Amino acid sequence: MYHVIVNGNVSKGKINKNIYGQFTEHLGRCVYEGMFVKDEDNIPNVNGIRKDVMKALKDINVPVVRWPGGCFADTYHWKDGIGPKEERQTIVNTSWGGVTEDNSFGTHEFMEFAEQLGCEVYFSGNVGSGTVQEMSDWIEYCNMGGVSPMANLRRKNGRENPWNVKFWGIGNEAWGCGGNMKAEYYADEARKFATYMRNYDDKFRIYKIASGANQADYHWTKTVCERAGQLIDAISLHYYTVTYDWEHKGKAAKFTKDEYYRVLHNTFHMEELVNNHSAIIKQYKTDKHKIGLIVDEWGTWYEVEEGTNPGFLYQQNTIRDAVLAGINLNIFNNHCDTVVMTNIAQMVNVLQSMILTEGEKMVLTPTYFTFLLYKNHMDARHLDSYVDADILNEDEKLKVPRITVSASEKDGKSLVTLVNLSESEEAETEIMLTGFKAKDVTAQTLTGNMDDHNTFDAPQKVSVSELKAEIISDGNAIKVVLPKNSVTSIEVTKA
Ligand code: AHR
Repeated sequence: MYHVIVNGNVSKGKINKNIYGQFTEHLGRCVYEGMFVKDEDNIPNVNGIRKDVMKALKDINVPVVRWPGGCFADTYHWKDGIGPKEERQTIVNTSWGGVTEDNSFGTHEFMEFAEQLGCEVYFSGNVGSGTVQEMSDWIEYCNMGGVSPMANLRRKNGRENPWNVKFWGIGNEAWGCGGNMKAEYYADEARKFATYMRNYDDKFRIYKIASGANQADYHWTKTVCERAGQLIDAISLHYYTVTYDWEHKGKAAKFTKDEYYRVLHNTFHMEELVNNHSAIIKQYKTDKHKIGLIVDEWGTWYEVEEGTNPGFLYQQNTIRDAVLAGINLNIFNNHCDTVVMTNIAQMVNVLQSMILTEGEKMVLTPTYFTFLLYKNHMDARHLDSYVDADILNEDEKLKVPRITVSASEKDGKSLVTLVNLSESEEAETEIMLTGFKAKDVTAQTLTGNMDDHNTFDAPQKVSVSELKAEIISDGNAIKVVLPKNSVTSIEVTKA
Protein backbone atom coordinates (compact mmCIF):
# COMPACT_ATOMS: atom_id res chain seq x y z
CA MET A 1 0.00 0.00 0.00
CA TYR A 2 1.33 3.45 -0.96
CA HIS A 3 0.33 6.69 0.70
CA VAL A 4 -0.37 10.15 -0.64
CA ILE A 5 -1.13 13.15 1.56
CA VAL A 6 -3.16 16.13 0.30
CA ASN A 7 -3.05 19.11 2.62
CA GLY A 8 -5.99 21.52 2.34
CA ASN A 9 -4.22 24.02 4.61
CA VAL A 10 -1.03 24.58 2.61
CA SER A 11 -0.98 26.15 -0.84
CA LYS A 12 1.44 27.84 -3.23
CA GLY A 13 -1.41 29.94 -4.62
CA LYS A 14 -3.43 29.81 -7.79
CA ILE A 15 -2.57 27.40 -10.61
CA ASN A 16 -2.51 29.75 -13.59
CA LYS A 17 -4.79 28.33 -16.26
CA ASN A 18 -2.14 29.18 -18.84
CA ILE A 19 -0.02 26.28 -17.55
CA TYR A 20 -2.30 24.24 -19.83
CA GLY A 21 -1.28 26.24 -22.93
CA GLN A 22 -0.41 24.99 -26.39
CA PHE A 23 2.21 25.87 -29.01
CA THR A 24 1.62 26.04 -32.78
CA GLU A 25 4.21 26.76 -35.42
CA HIS A 26 4.34 27.01 -39.19
CA LEU A 27 6.05 23.64 -39.17
CA GLY A 28 5.05 20.52 -41.10
CA ARG A 29 1.30 19.96 -40.90
CA CYS A 30 0.59 21.84 -37.67
CA VAL A 31 -1.05 24.98 -39.07
CA TYR A 32 -1.86 23.90 -42.63
CA GLU A 33 -3.93 20.68 -42.60
CA GLY A 34 -3.89 20.45 -38.81
CA MET A 35 -5.67 23.65 -37.80
CA PHE A 36 -6.44 25.37 -41.05
CA VAL A 37 -7.57 24.05 -44.41
CA LYS A 38 -7.27 25.82 -47.71
CA ASP A 39 -10.23 26.44 -50.04
CA GLU A 40 -9.44 23.44 -52.21
CA ASP A 41 -9.41 20.97 -49.28
CA ASN A 42 -12.70 19.21 -48.76
CA ILE A 43 -12.62 19.11 -44.97
CA PRO A 44 -15.47 20.55 -42.88
CA ASN A 45 -14.39 23.96 -41.59
CA VAL A 46 -15.58 27.36 -40.42
CA ASN A 47 -13.65 30.14 -42.13
CA GLY A 48 -10.85 27.66 -42.80
CA ILE A 49 -10.61 26.35 -39.21
CA ARG A 50 -11.19 22.57 -39.00
CA LYS A 51 -14.42 21.81 -37.16
CA ASP A 52 -13.27 18.46 -35.73
CA VAL A 53 -10.01 19.87 -34.35
CA MET A 54 -11.80 22.90 -32.91
CA LYS A 55 -14.36 20.72 -31.11
CA ALA A 56 -11.62 18.55 -29.58
CA LEU A 57 -9.64 21.59 -28.41
CA LYS A 58 -12.74 23.18 -26.86
CA ASP A 59 -13.28 20.02 -24.81
CA ILE A 60 -9.92 20.47 -23.06
CA ASN A 61 -10.50 24.22 -22.51
CA VAL A 62 -7.25 25.35 -24.16
CA PRO A 63 -6.48 28.64 -22.36
CA VAL A 64 -3.71 30.13 -24.53
CA VAL A 65 -1.95 29.31 -27.81
CA ARG A 66 1.53 30.46 -28.82
CA TRP A 67 2.17 31.27 -32.53
CA PRO A 68 3.82 31.52 -35.17
CA GLY A 69 6.97 29.79 -33.84
CA GLY A 70 9.50 28.58 -32.71
CA CYS A 71 12.35 29.14 -35.09
CA PHE A 72 9.87 30.20 -37.77
CA ALA A 73 8.97 33.29 -35.73
CA ASP A 74 12.40 34.85 -36.23
CA THR A 75 12.02 34.66 -40.01
CA TYR A 76 8.35 35.71 -40.04
CA HIS A 77 7.37 39.14 -41.25
CA TRP A 78 3.78 39.63 -40.16
CA LYS A 79 2.91 42.10 -42.91
CA ASP A 80 3.38 39.24 -45.44
CA GLY A 81 0.37 37.57 -43.83
CA ILE A 82 -2.30 40.29 -43.99
CA GLY A 83 -4.48 41.74 -46.75
CA PRO A 84 -6.06 40.03 -49.77
CA LYS A 85 -4.79 36.44 -50.01
CA GLU A 86 -3.89 36.63 -53.68
CA GLU A 87 -1.56 39.56 -52.94
CA ARG A 88 0.24 37.92 -50.02
CA GLN A 89 3.94 37.32 -50.37
CA THR A 90 5.08 33.71 -50.84
CA ILE A 91 8.19 32.85 -48.85
CA VAL A 92 10.34 29.80 -48.17
CA ASN A 93 10.10 28.21 -44.73
CA THR A 94 13.85 27.92 -44.27
CA SER A 95 13.50 26.58 -40.74
CA TRP A 96 11.29 23.60 -41.56
CA GLY A 97 11.68 21.55 -44.71
CA GLY A 98 12.27 24.43 -47.13
CA VAL A 99 8.60 24.33 -48.12
CA THR A 100 6.68 27.20 -49.70
CA GLU A 101 4.78 29.31 -47.21
CA ASP A 102 2.01 31.20 -48.99
CA ASN A 103 1.06 33.18 -45.90
CA SER A 104 -2.59 32.29 -46.28
CA PHE A 105 -2.69 31.81 -42.50
CA GLY A 106 -1.68 35.12 -40.92
CA THR A 107 -2.71 37.39 -38.06
CA HIS A 108 -6.42 37.56 -38.99
CA GLU A 109 -6.71 33.80 -39.52
CA PHE A 110 -4.92 33.03 -36.25
CA MET A 111 -7.18 35.44 -34.38
CA GLU A 112 -10.22 33.84 -36.02
CA PHE A 113 -8.95 30.50 -34.70
CA ALA A 114 -8.46 31.97 -31.21
CA GLU A 115 -11.89 33.62 -31.18
CA GLN A 116 -13.59 30.37 -32.18
CA LEU A 117 -11.69 28.57 -29.42
CA GLY A 118 -12.17 31.36 -26.88
CA CYS A 119 -8.50 31.33 -25.84
CA GLU A 120 -5.84 33.96 -25.25
CA VAL A 121 -2.99 34.24 -27.71
CA TYR A 122 0.76 34.58 -27.31
CA PHE A 123 2.56 36.08 -30.30
CA SER A 124 6.27 35.41 -30.76
CA GLY A 125 7.82 38.54 -32.24
CA ASN A 126 10.69 38.52 -34.71
CA VAL A 127 13.89 39.76 -33.07
CA GLY A 128 16.38 37.64 -35.04
CA SER A 129 15.70 39.05 -38.51
CA GLY A 130 13.07 41.67 -37.73
CA THR A 131 13.18 45.22 -36.50
CA VAL A 132 11.94 47.10 -33.47
CA GLN A 133 9.64 49.04 -35.79
CA GLU A 134 8.14 45.84 -37.20
CA MET A 135 7.33 44.44 -33.77
CA SER A 136 6.00 47.77 -32.55
CA ASP A 137 3.78 48.05 -35.65
CA TRP A 138 2.39 44.54 -35.06
CA ILE A 139 1.32 45.48 -31.54
CA GLU A 140 -0.25 48.71 -32.79
CA TYR A 141 -2.05 46.74 -35.55
CA CYS A 142 -3.51 44.31 -33.01
CA ASN A 143 -4.20 46.58 -30.06
CA MET A 144 -4.84 50.19 -31.13
CA GLY A 145 -8.51 51.14 -30.86
CA GLY A 146 -8.37 54.73 -32.16
CA VAL A 147 -7.02 56.22 -35.34
CA SER A 148 -3.43 55.36 -36.28
CA PRO A 149 -1.62 54.07 -39.36
CA MET A 150 -1.67 50.45 -38.18
CA ALA A 151 -5.22 50.57 -36.78
CA ASN A 152 -6.38 52.01 -40.11
CA LEU A 153 -4.60 49.24 -41.97
CA ARG A 154 -6.32 46.64 -39.78
CA ARG A 155 -9.70 48.23 -40.55
CA LYS A 156 -8.90 48.22 -44.25
CA ASN A 157 -8.29 44.47 -43.86
CA GLY A 158 -11.74 43.96 -42.38
CA ARG A 159 -11.28 44.13 -38.61
CA GLU A 160 -12.79 47.16 -36.83
CA ASN A 161 -12.06 46.43 -33.16
CA PRO A 162 -8.63 45.77 -31.71
CA TRP A 163 -8.00 42.23 -30.54
CA ASN A 164 -6.06 43.29 -27.44
CA VAL A 165 -3.33 40.68 -27.70
CA LYS A 166 -1.75 40.43 -24.26
CA PHE A 167 1.22 38.06 -24.51
CA TRP A 168 4.21 39.09 -26.67
CA GLY A 169 7.46 37.16 -26.94
CA ILE A 170 10.66 39.10 -27.57
CA GLY A 171 12.11 36.58 -30.02
CA ASN A 172 12.52 32.81 -29.67
CA GLU A 173 15.64 30.84 -28.75
CA ALA A 174 17.75 33.95 -29.23
CA TRP A 175 20.77 31.80 -28.22
CA GLY A 176 20.17 29.57 -31.28
CA CYS A 177 17.87 29.78 -34.31
CA GLY A 178 16.67 33.20 -33.13
CA GLY A 179 20.00 34.93 -33.83
CA ASN A 180 22.79 32.98 -32.09
CA MET A 181 23.18 35.80 -29.59
CA LYS A 182 25.14 35.90 -26.37
CA ALA A 183 23.11 36.45 -23.21
CA GLU A 184 24.57 39.93 -22.69
CA TYR A 185 23.82 41.03 -26.24
CA TYR A 186 20.30 39.60 -26.15
CA ALA A 187 19.56 41.32 -22.83
CA ASP A 188 20.33 44.67 -24.47
CA GLU A 189 18.18 43.78 -27.50
CA ALA A 190 15.35 42.78 -25.17
CA ARG A 191 15.62 46.15 -23.39
CA LYS A 192 15.41 47.98 -26.69
CA PHE A 193 12.47 45.96 -28.05
CA ALA A 194 10.61 46.14 -24.74
CA THR A 195 10.91 49.93 -24.76
CA TYR A 196 8.90 50.20 -27.96
CA MET A 197 6.32 47.55 -27.10
CA ARG A 198 3.59 50.02 -26.17
CA ASN A 199 0.27 49.85 -24.39
CA TYR A 200 -2.58 51.42 -26.37
CA ASP A 201 -5.21 51.44 -23.66
CA ASP A 202 -4.86 52.52 -20.02
CA LYS A 203 -6.91 49.54 -18.91
CA PHE A 204 -5.04 46.97 -20.99
CA ARG A 205 -1.39 46.20 -20.38
CA ILE A 206 0.58 43.90 -22.62
CA TYR A 207 2.77 41.21 -21.07
CA LYS A 208 6.37 41.01 -22.33
CA ILE A 209 8.16 37.67 -22.41
CA ALA A 210 11.92 37.51 -22.88
CA SER A 211 13.43 34.64 -24.83
CA GLY A 212 14.83 32.32 -22.21
CA ALA A 213 17.40 29.68 -21.59
CA ASN A 214 18.16 26.48 -23.37
CA GLN A 215 17.73 23.93 -20.60
CA ALA A 216 20.32 24.50 -17.85
CA ASP A 217 21.84 27.73 -19.16
CA TYR A 218 21.52 29.54 -15.83
CA HIS A 219 23.91 32.26 -16.96
CA TRP A 220 21.32 33.23 -19.59
CA THR A 221 18.48 33.59 -17.09
CA LYS A 222 20.64 35.51 -14.62
CA THR A 223 22.00 37.89 -17.25
CA VAL A 224 18.64 38.65 -18.83
CA CYS A 225 16.96 39.16 -15.44
CA GLU A 226 19.81 41.34 -14.18
CA ARG A 227 19.98 43.56 -17.26
CA ALA A 228 16.42 43.57 -18.59
CA GLY A 229 14.38 42.20 -15.69
CA GLN A 230 12.57 45.42 -14.85
CA LEU A 231 11.37 45.81 -18.44
CA ILE A 232 9.90 42.32 -18.87
CA ASP A 233 7.10 40.38 -17.19
CA ALA A 234 8.41 36.88 -17.72
CA ILE A 235 11.26 34.85 -19.14
CA SER A 236 10.91 31.58 -20.99
CA LEU A 237 12.57 28.15 -20.74
CA HIS A 238 12.76 25.34 -23.30
CA TYR A 239 13.36 21.70 -22.47
CA TYR A 240 12.57 18.74 -24.70
CA THR A 241 12.75 15.12 -23.53
CA VAL A 242 14.62 12.69 -25.81
CA THR A 243 15.43 9.00 -25.26
CA TYR A 244 19.26 9.13 -25.36
CA ASP A 245 20.68 12.39 -26.67
CA TRP A 246 20.03 14.91 -29.43
CA GLU A 247 21.59 12.62 -32.06
CA HIS A 248 19.72 9.54 -30.78
CA LYS A 249 16.24 10.68 -29.98
CA GLY A 250 14.68 7.21 -30.06
CA LYS A 251 11.46 5.91 -31.54
CA ALA A 252 8.05 7.29 -30.66
CA ALA A 253 6.11 4.03 -30.63
CA LYS A 254 8.45 1.04 -31.02
CA PHE A 255 10.54 1.15 -27.87
CA THR A 256 11.80 -1.21 -25.20
CA LYS A 257 10.97 -1.28 -21.51
CA ASP A 258 14.38 0.29 -20.79
CA GLU A 259 13.58 3.08 -23.21
CA TYR A 260 10.23 3.61 -21.54
CA TYR A 261 11.93 4.27 -18.20
CA ARG A 262 14.83 6.17 -19.75
CA VAL A 263 12.47 8.74 -21.28
CA LEU A 264 10.53 9.14 -18.03
CA HIS A 265 13.79 9.43 -16.09
CA ASN A 266 15.01 12.15 -18.48
CA THR A 267 11.82 14.16 -18.21
CA PHE A 268 12.37 14.66 -14.46
CA HIS A 269 15.18 17.03 -15.42
CA MET A 270 12.33 19.53 -15.80
CA GLU A 271 11.91 19.59 -12.01
CA GLU A 272 15.55 20.59 -11.51
CA LEU A 273 15.35 23.19 -14.30
CA VAL A 274 12.19 24.78 -12.95
CA ASN A 275 13.62 24.84 -9.41
CA ASN A 276 16.90 26.43 -10.44
CA HIS A 277 15.55 28.97 -12.93
CA SER A 278 12.85 29.90 -10.41
CA ALA A 279 15.48 30.45 -7.73
CA ILE A 280 17.34 32.87 -10.02
CA ILE A 281 14.21 34.74 -11.07
CA LYS A 282 13.11 35.17 -7.47
CA GLN A 283 16.28 37.12 -6.73
CA TYR A 284 15.01 39.90 -9.00
CA LYS A 285 11.63 40.21 -7.31
CA THR A 286 10.82 43.63 -5.90
CA ASP A 287 7.75 44.94 -4.04
CA LYS A 288 6.35 46.13 -7.33
CA HIS A 289 7.67 43.63 -9.83
CA LYS A 290 7.81 39.87 -10.15
CA ILE A 291 9.20 37.96 -13.13
CA GLY A 292 7.29 34.83 -14.14
CA LEU A 293 8.71 31.65 -15.67
CA ILE A 294 7.11 30.45 -18.92
CA VAL A 295 8.05 27.01 -20.21
CA ASP A 296 6.92 27.84 -23.73
CA GLU A 297 8.29 24.69 -25.34
CA TRP A 298 8.30 21.28 -23.68
CA GLY A 299 7.44 17.67 -24.46
CA THR A 300 8.94 14.66 -26.20
CA TRP A 301 11.03 14.87 -29.35
CA TYR A 302 11.59 11.51 -31.10
CA GLU A 303 12.72 10.40 -34.56
CA VAL A 304 10.09 11.20 -37.18
CA GLU A 305 7.74 8.44 -38.33
CA GLU A 306 9.16 6.36 -41.18
CA GLY A 307 8.39 7.75 -44.62
CA THR A 308 7.53 11.25 -43.38
CA ASN A 309 9.43 14.46 -44.16
CA PRO A 310 12.27 14.81 -41.60
CA GLY A 311 11.63 18.57 -41.50
CA PHE A 312 8.01 18.04 -40.43
CA LEU A 313 8.67 16.46 -37.01
CA TYR A 314 5.67 14.13 -37.18
CA GLN A 315 5.69 11.48 -34.43
CA GLN A 316 3.29 8.99 -32.86
CA ASN A 317 2.14 9.43 -29.30
CA THR A 318 1.71 6.59 -26.79
CA ILE A 319 0.73 5.89 -23.20
CA ARG A 320 4.37 6.74 -22.38
CA ASP A 321 3.74 10.29 -23.62
CA ALA A 322 0.53 10.58 -21.61
CA VAL A 323 2.42 9.50 -18.47
CA LEU A 324 5.20 11.98 -19.28
CA ALA A 325 2.68 14.80 -19.75
CA GLY A 326 1.14 13.94 -16.37
CA ILE A 327 4.57 14.06 -14.69
CA ASN A 328 5.35 17.48 -16.18
CA LEU A 329 1.94 18.98 -15.45
CA ASN A 330 2.27 17.81 -11.83
CA ILE A 331 5.68 19.53 -11.69
CA PHE A 332 4.24 22.76 -13.13
CA ASN A 333 1.23 22.74 -10.79
CA ASN A 334 3.56 22.26 -7.83
CA HIS A 335 5.63 25.28 -8.94
CA CYS A 336 2.68 27.55 -9.65
CA ASP A 337 4.26 30.34 -7.56
CA THR A 338 6.71 30.98 -10.42
CA VAL A 339 5.46 29.01 -13.44
CA VAL A 340 2.78 31.22 -14.99
CA MET A 341 2.40 29.57 -18.39
CA THR A 342 3.60 26.56 -20.34
CA ASN A 343 3.06 25.60 -23.99
CA ILE A 344 3.47 21.96 -24.94
CA ALA A 345 5.09 21.42 -28.36
CA GLN A 346 3.06 21.22 -30.50
CA MET A 347 -0.74 21.19 -30.68
CA VAL A 348 -1.40 19.24 -33.91
CA ASN A 349 0.75 16.87 -36.02
CA VAL A 350 4.14 18.01 -34.66
CA LEU A 351 6.16 16.49 -31.77
CA GLN A 352 4.05 15.68 -28.67
CA SER A 353 0.67 16.58 -30.13
CA MET A 354 -2.83 16.54 -28.74
CA ILE A 355 -4.22 15.65 -32.14
CA LEU A 356 -3.06 13.86 -35.31
CA THR A 357 -4.77 14.34 -38.66
CA GLU A 358 -4.63 12.59 -42.02
CA GLY A 359 -6.81 14.22 -44.66
CA GLU A 360 -10.23 14.48 -43.11
CA LYS A 361 -9.44 11.90 -40.39
CA MET A 362 -8.46 12.92 -36.88
CA VAL A 363 -7.31 11.01 -33.79
CA LEU A 364 -6.89 12.17 -30.22
CA THR A 365 -3.57 11.14 -28.74
CA PRO A 366 -2.96 9.72 -25.24
CA THR A 367 -1.43 13.10 -24.33
CA TYR A 368 -4.76 14.77 -25.18
CA PHE A 369 -6.44 12.64 -22.52
CA THR A 370 -3.93 13.73 -19.87
CA PHE A 371 -4.93 17.33 -20.59
CA LEU A 372 -8.60 16.30 -20.36
CA LEU A 373 -8.05 14.65 -16.97
CA TYR A 374 -6.13 17.66 -15.60
CA LYS A 375 -8.30 20.48 -16.94
CA ASN A 376 -10.03 21.32 -13.66
CA HIS A 377 -6.68 22.35 -12.17
CA MET A 378 -6.93 25.50 -14.28
CA ASP A 379 -7.28 28.59 -12.06
CA ALA A 380 -7.81 26.38 -9.00
CA ARG A 381 -6.09 26.88 -5.63
CA HIS A 382 -3.03 24.67 -5.46
CA LEU A 383 -2.85 22.25 -2.51
CA ASP A 384 0.33 20.83 -1.09
CA SER A 385 0.70 17.09 -1.66
CA TYR A 386 3.22 14.40 -0.84
CA VAL A 387 3.82 10.80 -1.96
CA ASP A 388 5.17 8.02 0.24
CA ALA A 389 6.32 5.36 -2.25
CA ASP A 390 9.56 3.81 -3.49
CA ILE A 391 11.82 4.51 -6.45
CA LEU A 392 11.65 2.14 -9.42
CA ASN A 393 14.77 0.55 -11.00
CA GLU A 394 18.38 0.14 -9.84
CA ASP A 395 20.07 1.56 -12.93
CA GLU A 396 20.76 5.28 -12.35
CA LYS A 397 19.65 6.16 -15.89
CA LEU A 398 16.28 4.46 -15.46
CA LYS A 399 15.40 5.51 -11.90
CA VAL A 400 11.99 7.14 -11.47
CA PRO A 401 9.58 7.63 -8.59
CA ARG A 402 6.73 5.11 -8.63
CA ILE A 403 4.02 7.76 -8.24
CA THR A 404 3.79 11.53 -8.71
CA VAL A 405 0.97 13.83 -7.62
CA SER A 406 -0.45 17.33 -7.63
CA ALA A 407 -3.67 18.65 -6.13
CA SER A 408 -5.92 21.69 -6.15
CA GLU A 409 -9.35 22.90 -5.05
CA LYS A 410 -12.07 24.89 -6.74
CA ASP A 411 -15.83 25.33 -6.18
CA GLY A 412 -16.01 22.97 -3.19
CA LYS A 413 -14.19 20.17 -4.99
CA SER A 414 -10.63 19.00 -4.78
CA LEU A 415 -8.81 17.49 -7.76
CA VAL A 416 -5.95 15.05 -7.19
CA THR A 417 -3.98 13.94 -10.26
CA LEU A 418 -1.74 10.90 -9.89
CA VAL A 419 0.68 9.22 -12.26
CA ASN A 420 1.67 5.58 -11.74
CA LEU A 421 4.94 5.17 -13.66
CA SER A 422 5.30 1.43 -13.20
CA GLU A 423 5.17 -0.33 -16.53
CA SER A 424 3.96 -3.57 -14.95
CA GLU A 425 2.49 -3.01 -11.47
CA GLU A 426 -0.70 -1.43 -10.27
CA ALA A 427 -0.46 0.63 -7.09
CA GLU A 428 -2.87 0.25 -4.21
CA THR A 429 -2.94 3.75 -2.79
CA GLU A 430 -4.51 5.54 0.15
CA ILE A 431 -4.90 9.30 -0.22
CA MET A 432 -5.03 10.92 3.19
CA LEU A 433 -6.83 14.25 3.35
CA THR A 434 -5.70 16.93 5.79
CA GLY A 435 -7.79 20.02 6.52
CA PHE A 436 -10.92 18.71 4.79
CA LYS A 437 -13.08 15.60 4.51
CA ALA A 438 -14.61 13.83 1.53
CA LYS A 439 -18.37 13.62 0.97
CA ASP A 440 -18.25 12.13 -2.51
CA VAL A 441 -15.56 10.89 -4.89
CA THR A 442 -15.26 10.02 -8.57
CA ALA A 443 -12.17 8.90 -10.49
CA GLN A 444 -11.13 8.53 -14.10
CA THR A 445 -8.02 6.96 -15.54
CA LEU A 446 -6.02 6.54 -18.72
CA THR A 447 -4.05 3.32 -18.91
CA GLY A 448 -2.80 0.62 -21.29
CA ASN A 449 0.42 -1.01 -22.36
CA MET A 450 3.38 1.37 -22.42
CA ASP A 451 3.32 1.71 -26.23
CA ASP A 452 -0.44 1.68 -26.84
CA HIS A 453 -1.59 4.46 -29.13
CA ASN A 454 -4.45 5.54 -31.36
CA THR A 455 -4.23 5.21 -35.12
CA PHE A 456 -6.48 6.28 -37.96
CA ASP A 457 -7.60 2.64 -38.26
CA ALA A 458 -8.07 2.14 -34.50
CA PRO A 459 -8.81 5.63 -33.17
CA GLN A 460 -10.38 4.53 -29.86
CA LYS A 461 -7.73 2.12 -28.59
CA VAL A 462 -6.58 4.51 -25.87
CA SER A 463 -9.17 6.49 -23.98
CA VAL A 464 -10.30 7.51 -20.51
CA SER A 465 -12.37 5.14 -18.34
CA GLU A 466 -14.05 5.29 -14.93
CA LEU A 467 -12.03 3.99 -11.96
CA LYS A 468 -13.31 2.76 -8.61
CA ALA A 469 -12.43 5.07 -5.72
CA GLU A 470 -13.75 4.60 -2.17
CA ILE A 471 -14.12 7.01 0.73
CA ILE A 472 -12.69 5.44 3.91
CA SER A 473 -11.76 6.49 7.48
CA ASP A 474 -14.92 8.53 8.00
CA GLY A 475 -14.19 10.81 5.02
CA ASN A 476 -10.55 11.38 5.94
CA ALA A 477 -9.08 9.25 3.16
CA ILE A 478 -9.71 7.79 -0.31
CA LYS A 479 -8.70 4.32 -1.41
CA VAL A 480 -7.88 3.66 -5.04
CA VAL A 481 -5.89 1.17 -7.12
CA LEU A 482 -3.88 3.02 -9.76
CA PRO A 483 -3.48 0.88 -12.89
CA LYS A 484 0.01 0.32 -14.36
CA ASN A 485 1.25 3.14 -16.69
CA SER A 486 -1.63 5.33 -15.74
CA VAL A 487 -2.72 8.92 -15.38
CA THR A 488 -5.60 9.24 -12.92
CA SER A 489 -7.74 12.14 -11.80
CA ILE A 490 -9.74 11.96 -8.60
CA GLU A 491 -12.41 14.51 -7.89
CA VAL A 492 -13.36 14.82 -4.24
CA THR A 493 -16.47 16.71 -3.19
CA LYS A 494 -15.76 18.23 0.19
CA ALA A 495 -18.00 17.41 3.16
O1 AHR B 1 9.26 22.97 -31.65
C1 AHR B 1 10.23 22.81 -32.64
C2 AHR B 1 11.40 23.76 -32.48
O2 AHR B 1 12.10 23.50 -31.32
C3 AHR B 1 11.06 25.23 -32.37
O3 AHR B 1 10.86 25.83 -33.59
C4 AHR B 1 12.30 25.79 -31.70
O4 AHR B 1 12.00 26.92 -30.91
C5 AHR B 1 12.82 24.63 -30.88
O5 AHR B 1 14.17 24.42 -31.10
